[in-house]
Amino acid sequence: MDDQAPLESLTAHPQEQLKTLAQIPHPRIPLPADLYPDRRNSRGMDLSDVRALSALDEQWQVLSGPSIPPVTDASIESALEGAFHYTEQWRLTDVNFRAGCLEALADLLEERMPHLIALCCQEGRKSIPDGVAEVREAVDFCRYYAAQARQLFDPQALPGPTGESNQWRLRGRGVFVCISPWNFPLAIFLGQISAALVAGNTVIAKPAEQTPAIAWMATQLMYQAGIPEQALYLLAGDAGTGARLVKDSRVAGVAFTGSELTARRINQALASREAAIATLIAETGGLNAMLVDSSALLEQVVVDVLRSGFQSAGQRCSALRILLVQEDVAPALIELLRGAMDELIIGDPADLATDVGPVIDENALASLYEHIDYLEGNARLLKCCELSDSLSDTLYFAPRLYEISRIEQLSREVFGPIVHLLRFRASDLDRVIDQINATGYGLTFGIHSRISSRAQTIASRINAGNVYVNRNMIGAVVGVQPFGGSGLSGTGPKAGGPLYLTRFTNEQSISIDT
Ligand code: SER
Repeated sequence: MDDQAPLESLTAHPQEQLKTLAQIPHPRIPLPADLYPDRRNSRGMDLSDVRALSALDEQWQVLSGPSIPPVTDASIESALEGAFHYTEQWRLTDVNFRAGCLEALADLLEERMPHLIALCCQEGRKSIPDGVAEVREAVDFCRYYAAQARQLFDPQALPGPTGESNQWRLRGRGVFVCISPWNFPLAIFLGQISAALVAGNTVIAKPAEQTPAIAWMATQLMYQAGIPEQALYLLAGDAGTGARLVKDSRVAGVAFTGSELTARRINQALASREAAIATLIAETGGLNAMLVDSSALLEQVVVDVLRSGFQSAGQRCSALRILLVQEDVAPALIELLRGAMDELIIGDPADLATDVGPVIDENALASLYEHIDYLEGNARLLKCCELSDSLSDTLYFAPRLYEISRIEQLSREVFGPIVHLLRFRASDLDRVIDQINATGYGLTFGIHSRISSRAQTIASRINAGNVYVNRNMIGAVVGVQPFGGSGLSGTGPKAGGPLYLTRFTNEQSISIDT
């Protein structure tokens, strides 16, 4: 994602345009009962009950009062100072207390689900199904990291031949800066913060500029769930705020999700500080491919290409960018894809039938138009969906399928609903895999083949963090499909995986002569 300006050219300044929650329209999303298959949240509240919804409306009114505080030099300094001084106290809290806060937060998120979905749709321009998935993922992160922390932070005795009592334990590192993106404004925002907090770090959160209200709302819920205000600071500022924070010697680690370019700049800033070496956990983009061989079930491939390439308007780091198709089946697949793309409903994210909503802002739209200008003359347009007249002057971008002739025509992530198809000969399979590996990215990869030994061989050769066989390649599930890549796609560890919390910690061993 091209989300941040160069660090060195920016300084912190007060936000010129203060956004208040009152400026975000009151939820107008229909809340049909079938949005909640079991119709009840974890506290047994029936979400289809009119009285329950009006109670939620009152909560919304309460929450929609205050402004999101502006970021100033003073507020940055006060967050750094506050977070730094509270580090020891927070690290020494019982892990069960910290985990309990996350579990309480998960319950609160479920209670407020309709409003959080509404905010994700209105501020984050998400479709309703994406909004539902977003809140569920946030809940899953909280519960998963709480459960992990209870296991990991139990000190372990290491008996051995020394004749001493030896113990090993994990402890928070100190102040973590969490810099999160607009495309998962609730799930990634809370995923990073909840992991850092439950591991015993204090946190300064810098959400994406496009989605401050969701971040503000989530932060209030964290305080309500028991996280002390001294342990968590929200600075809803611009890229300059992030730049200021990562340079500061009081910061022990940074969790970042966004563009590869910004990750590099954060890395440089951390490396040039005259302070202890800080940790960077970066999850960046991908040039993700799906490989379809001649044994694949093409009708299934069509469904999975549409979902992987165009759901969320292609604005996921996991999304499909390069569709590699064995030449024997390419004509049939292209025909099926063209027909299926005609059926996509492009429109208002608040309409449950919508398949593809708008992109996030003018910059995103401009960079997609820049890319199709580049493809002009370099690639063949196989299909461009039609936009109705009412959408043509807005933030909607018609999904497109292009045919390219070489993988090298793409060198960077294109963050939107464009899929690039490339034909390959069966005898070139190995070379195609080498070329995908040579892009340097390694996030998601899809395989459609009914020859399971081939799928296994490809999976073992491809440098991708998440490999999906005979299915779509988005929507990794917390705890069972840990998400994240390597190379240009990030540092690891994988979010929602068994190693994630450990990177937020230092280890300590204590040896006592008995
Ligand atoms: N975790 C998301 C997915 O799997 C991408 O950021 O789609």
